[in-house]
Amino acid sequence: MLIAPSILSADMTNLKSEVDMLNASAAEWIHFDIMDGVFVPNLSFGFPILEAVRRCTHKPLDVHLMMVQPERYVEQFKASGATNLTVQYEACTHLHRVLERIKKLGMNAGVAINPHTPASTLEEVAAMTDIVLVMSVNPGFGGQAFIENSYSKVSRVRELLQRKNSSALIEVDGGVTLDNAPKIKAAGADVLVAGSLVFTASCPPETIALLAKI
Ligand code: DX5
Ligand code: ZN
Repeated sequence: MLIAPSILSADMTNLKSEVDMLNASAAEWIHFDIMDGVFVPNLSFGFPILEAVRRCTHKPLDVHLMMVQPERYVEQFKASGATNLTVQYEACTHLHRVLERIKKLGMNAGVAINPHTPASTLEEVAAMTDIVLVMSVNPGFGGQAFIENSYSKVSRVRELLQRKNSSALIEVDGGVTLDNAPKIKAAGADVLVAGSLVFTASCPPETIALLAKI
């Protein structure tokens, strides 16, 4: 499994040491949850934090935009060091155009779907998408419980991607634990986001390594 720790749950008073820990760990990506207080009822962080972390790591920055009208900031996220840029299906009137712009700028384009959004909504963009982010919690906060329906939803996304000959990675985001990770993988996931699991662990690198070995 590829592991993408979410720094939303990191100790912000020691961000550099948290990133140093991730650099030395089995983490594949660093997941950034950008929240605007409109699409989700929370505010997280923005460009200054992203640029600061960019300066401390060579790992891909996996940016998850939980905001309305994300097309306003695509160029700025590229300039700030985003490797992957994932927009919420529910926030995009012109999803096809946003994905095209993200890819044209040389980033990997992702689509996140909320728990209520069916896998079938990806039908017409599956072939152009690099990442499908299956939200296994209602977005906005770390530390929430995994929504059980997400297992079968990951399988439905996997089936759709295979049918569309899409090489997109399936990333699962929210409530991932060492207990549910094997079942999430069996359902067809490639990447696991883990926030509270990693940053509340007694030994985060060991937890990341255990997740990666699944
Ligand atoms: C939720 C975010 C998730 C969250 C994951 O809105 O998109 O990335 O930070 O945190 P955990 O792993 O604690 O659910
Ligand atoms: Zn996220």
